[in-house]
Amino acid sequence: MSLPKINPTKTITWESIQLHFEKMKAVSMKDLFASDANRAEKFHIEWNNFLLDFSKNIINQETIDLLLNLANDVQLKDAISSYFQGDIINQTENRAVLHTALRAKESANILVEGVNVIPEVYSVKDKIKNFSNEVISGNKKGFTGKPFTDIVNIGIGGSDLGPAMIVEALQFYKNHLSVHFVSNVDGDHVNEVIKKLNPETTLFVVVSKTFTTQETLSNAETIRSWFLQSASQEDVAKHFVAVSTNIQKVTEFGINHDNIFPMWDWVGGRFSLWSAVGLSVSLAVGFDNYDKLLKGANEMDEHFKNESFDKNIPVVLALLSIWYNNFFGAESEALIPYTQYLQKLAPYLQQGIMESNGKSIGRDGKQVNYQTGTIIWGEPGTNSQHAFFQLIHQGTKLIPTDFIGFKQSLYGNKDHHDKLMSNFFAQTEALLMGKTEEEVKSEFQSQGISGEKANFLLPFKVFSGNKPTNTLLIDKLTPESLGALVAMYEHKIFVQGVIWNIFSYDQWGVELGKQLANSILEEINSKEIKKHDTSTSFLLNKYIFK
Ligand code: F6P
Repeated sequence: MSLPKINPTKTITWESIQLHFEKMKAVSMKDLFASDANRAEKFHIEWNNFLLDFSKNIINQETIDLLLNLANDVQLKDAISSYFQGDIINQTENRAVLHTALRAKESANILVEGVNVIPEVYSVKDKIKNFSNEVISGNKKGFTGKPFTDIVNIGIGGSDLGPAMIVEALQFYKNHLSVHFVSNVDGDHVNEVIKKLNPETTLFVVVSKTFTTQETLSNAETIRSWFLQSASQEDVAKHFVAVSTNIQKVTEFGINHDNIFPMWDWVGGRFSLWSAVGLSVSLAVGFDNYDKLLKGANEMDEHFKNESFDKNIPVVLALLSIWYNNFFGAESEALIPYTQYLQKLAPYLQQGIMESNGKSIGRDGKQVNYQTGTIIWGEPGTNSQHAFFQLIHQGTKLIPTDFIGFKQSLYGNKDHHDKLMSNFFAQTEALLMGKTEEEVKSEFQSQGISGEKANFLLPFKVFSGNKPTNTLLIDKLTPESLGALVAMYEHKIFVQGVIWNIFSYDQWGVELGKQLANSILEEINSKEIKKHDTSTSFLLNKYIFK
């Protein structure tokens, strides 16, 4: 079954939400809290070691009920079944979307074209396990007989961002191997990485679903040439492995058949870290931790698949996001993890969220007449507080923000962790409550500020508050909780795509730039500039002829 093609704005509920919004848009959350002592009790979900408090949103029970009705109107339940059972929901590429199969239990039975994919998934997992164990233990050696010390992941987009984010996030669980990432076609990037490496002890993992990506192939070729300055052609087999669906291209590149970790076209690039694309993760933290990451994601899959929508974390997050995006007109969302380990979470989710839901054609083939994909951005707290929080507190834009915090720190430094978490709680409270004129005036009084100066300063010191936030409090950053967190956002993406009636799993929008870059490269090489707009011609002239 394909996904339904329902324009959400044509549902009965959409109009009701619009009317409800007219009543809610001026409502103060402070008043909502004042009039209901049980608000946090009502608007929170506890699941495993996750606590989502969504009471600091401009909502009441009617808002939630209406949004849940919207989910039913667009047949979300059926859509979830189609997603998990491997239906061709990526219709424009004629593919199933089955990253969830990569973390499913071994007993699962998930059919693609009538064949259960789970045995194949588990055989690749075994290959990842054996290979990781061999490299980590030092049994597998480089061309001069030395064990490996460094791993270089060569890939871009989903073939880089996922493993890079997870390796960074799980560094507490890391072993002795140093893992590096080369992604940009900018030659300075690859040179900066290889200058620190010893070819004798470095393993290269070339990751490309298609194995046609310019950046990855250029970097892999440059690295292979650098490697061959010290080693022979036969040594390539000991130092280069690949992760791809395109076995033929990998073989043409010269990578030994045994060194290929296959993946499947039903795994989207930006959701591929659960496949062999996560090989660098398994090398960095060991297969057991990598497997725990998958287990955590699978637990979130089960929650998403089976829980009623009102207690379903990804569904509730998606609906709240729609509420702000489509009714309040909020264009972006911020994501603030209160742990330095998650510094790459926002860049990772930028691909997941914006490549998936940055679409303007509905599943009915028509231009949509409503907003779709949100802009996502963020940085860890407390750093971000000292950078861009000013705009969230006192700027003119509404920026719904997710706060992600952990009850325990990994090194157990309580003093630091309590300081970190006091900021975490303080920010959501400040964003909710703001600071009134009266409060500022009484502060002035106690500080001895009065007269002209007080009058002048007053408006600048007032905080309107009423800024929506979700608080996600998790016990501890572990491979399992990280897996569940990432899967949570993946399912939020899915729900939003279903409601917006768009195809979330293609990415045609990145093709035009790639095509043009290829033809411009030919022009640069031949020094023959073809017809362009006058700005591009002018710039190319300046670049080519200096
Ligand atoms: O930029 C588009 C894209 O296709 C992403 O979706 C993908 O993650 C990335 O390029 C890399 O693609 P590949 O893994 O095929 O090299």
